[in-house]
Amino acid sequence: MSEIKKIGVFTSGGDAPGMNACIRAVVRTGIFLGKEVVGIYQGYQGMIDKKFINMDARSVRNIIQLGGTVLKTARCAEFRTPEGRATAYKNLKEEGIDALVAIGGDGTFTGAELLSREYDIPIIGIPGTIDNDLYGSDFTLGYDTATNTVLEAIDKIRDTAASHDRLFFIEVMGRDSGCIALHAGVAGGAEAILLPEKETAIDDLILKLEEGALSNKSSSIVIIAEGEKNGGAYNVAKRVKERFNFYDIKVTILGHLQRGGTPSSFDRVLACRLGYASVKALVAGESRKMVGLRGNLIQLTDIVESINNHSYKLEEDLLEMSAILSI
Ligand code: F6P
Repeated sequence: MSEIKKIGVFTSGGDAPGMNACIRAVVRTGIFLGKEVVGIYQGYQGMIDKKFINMDARSVRNIIQLGGTVLKTARCAEFRTPEGRATAYKNLKEEGIDALVAIGGDGTFTGAELLSREYDIPIIGIPGTIDNDLYGSDFTLGYDTATNTVLEAIDKIRDTAASHDRLFFIEVMGRDSGCIALHAGVAGGAEAILLPEKETAIDDLILKLEEGALSNKSSSIVIIAEGEKNGGAYNVAKRVKERFNFYDIKVTILGHLQRGGTPSSFDRVLACRLGYASVKALVAGESRKMVGLRGNLIQLTDIVESINNHSYKLEEDLLEMSAILSI
């Protein structure tokens, strides 16, 4: 394999707090190791549209604390086609980019894996998604911040729920992943937590809420991940309302506010470690791997396994604990 001269870095898919701190780490590590670094705007879309910008150490100043991504992001349908990837690779080659760091979630990694397989370009993935749903890293960038954002919202809603004696259904992000719902639900003392990974019978939910009401609970909070099988917070609230009349019922959808905001210290340190490690891995000749944090050590995982292995971390035992702690 020839020596890498120019590294392209991009963010793709849903933005996540910590992406900027990670871009900074990639750029500065690359420059320190004598490489040129190019930022690619709007992920795969930017590869197709030739949106390249040369980065120097100062180009990433004052971004460690910013949410979102200064390189912008996009979900790019064209890149899913062989023609789209051919154009992207042609543009990368013309630009002299001979290695890539891809920051994003499973969709980003799927694209990276295809490109590196079809065109033999070295790629390292960095897990950047609030969903925390990639195998090979105990945490993904943005998950800690997003969970704390949700928690802050739950605490605020609890104030008004308690004041009015109401039952709130709060929907959080996670189409396929219940990590945010589970952790924010436990930390926020939710009466019930509904996850995409687990079927919840409405009868059981009503029973739990009734038990609470009959034992002098004057308000309750139910956390629902958006991909939960009963169809989200509005549907669950509607079905509960038909048969449960202890409290006034309200629904709050937290939506995209969960994706923004200044990254937590945890996410910033994680971003620095993963960004630094990604460039070191590329320079050491690694490719088609994801850098992740496992048990506080930086480790490499085959990128295909990071996407396809679903035996990861959702600790369903927390549900049982949470049900007991919220009696
Ligand atoms: O992948 C992160 C995520 O925030 C999911 O939790 C959510 O389902 C999805 O992105 C929303 O995507 P979009 O911003 O494209 O609507």
